[in-house]
Amino acid sequence: MKICNSIADIRVARRAARTDGKTVGLVPTMGALHDGHLVLVRAAKAQCNLVMVSIFVNPLQFGPSEDLAKYPRDFERDRELLQQEGVDFIFAPSVDEMYPVGAVTYVTVEGLSDKLCGRSRPGHFRGVTTIVSKLFNIVEPDKAFFGQKDAAQSTIIRRMVRDLNIPVQIVVCPIVREADGLAMSSRNAYLDAQQRKSALVLYRSLIAAQERFNLGEHRVHALIEAGKQAFVQEPSVRLDYFEIVDPDTLDPVDNLSRGGLVAVAGFVGNARLIDNIVLARTA
Ligand code: PAJ
Repeated sequence: MKICNSIADIRVARRAARTDGKTVGLVPTMGALHDGHLVLVRAAKAQCNLVMVSIFVNPLQFGPSEDLAKYPRDFERDRELLQQEGVDFIFAPSVDEMYPVGAVTYVTVEGLSDKLCGRSRPGHFRGVTTIVSKLFNIVEPDKAFFGQKDAAQSTIIRRMVRDLNIPVQIVVCPIVREADGLAMSSRNAYLDAQQRKSALVLYRSLIAAQERFNLGEHRVHALIEAGKQAFVQEPSVRLDYFEIVDPDTLDPVDNLSRGGLVAVAGFVGNARLIDNIVLARTA
């Protein structure tokens, strides 16, 4: 496994892969890796000849009062995990390498970027789409792997790729959960034992909506009410949003015939956690 810190080096590796006729899979991450990330790596290994994993805590997607400074970083551990997975290249650039002085160009997916997390985190998705498009331009992957855990992010990246004709196939992998259902997240490291228990309310709220749906309740407002009710029993967790939206437009749905994405976000202490499930279409 080779580690590249510069754009020039990873481009040399990419060019060599093309000469050798190898397909390249890219897994973009911010490090502090867990099984949710490793599932993406395994999918990339299975579907591509050569796998590149980027590790870059992207300042552009953090708001001024967010957790950029304390976001967990452990490059040595990440390196070992990726080595065990048989990854070919890690691309781990510095902030200066990715954003040289004077960088003023951004990619914005208008209309989608201010939905769900975009509403409570202004500028967040613009930061994501800018860095991901830069990674696509640098690595020119055949396929790029993202997690359903960040459902809105995956939707927005798919739209960006479509709108800008970026020649990459986006693969979205299912959410990996802890044994009790909590969605794996690098930010779970912020939780103490009590908060770890409280955090489960996110998953419980989704299950509450899912169960009502399975029992035949298809009125969106009733399903949202069922989900929000879970938070009443867990007052230590501050609900940010609980919404049922169209998975392609991220707009709230008023009927579930085309299915729906149930998305939730909440603050457990200072940690902002998200989760979601997909309700199947009914017609
Ligand atoms: P990060 O939070 O490190 O996540 C990297 C990828 O792992 C994302 O595609 C995310 O959806 C996926 N992932 C995280 N937890 C997961 C889980 N429990 N199950 C399945 N997939 C999971 O998302 C980002 O980084 C950044 O926004 C990035 C795309 C790298 C741009 O900076």
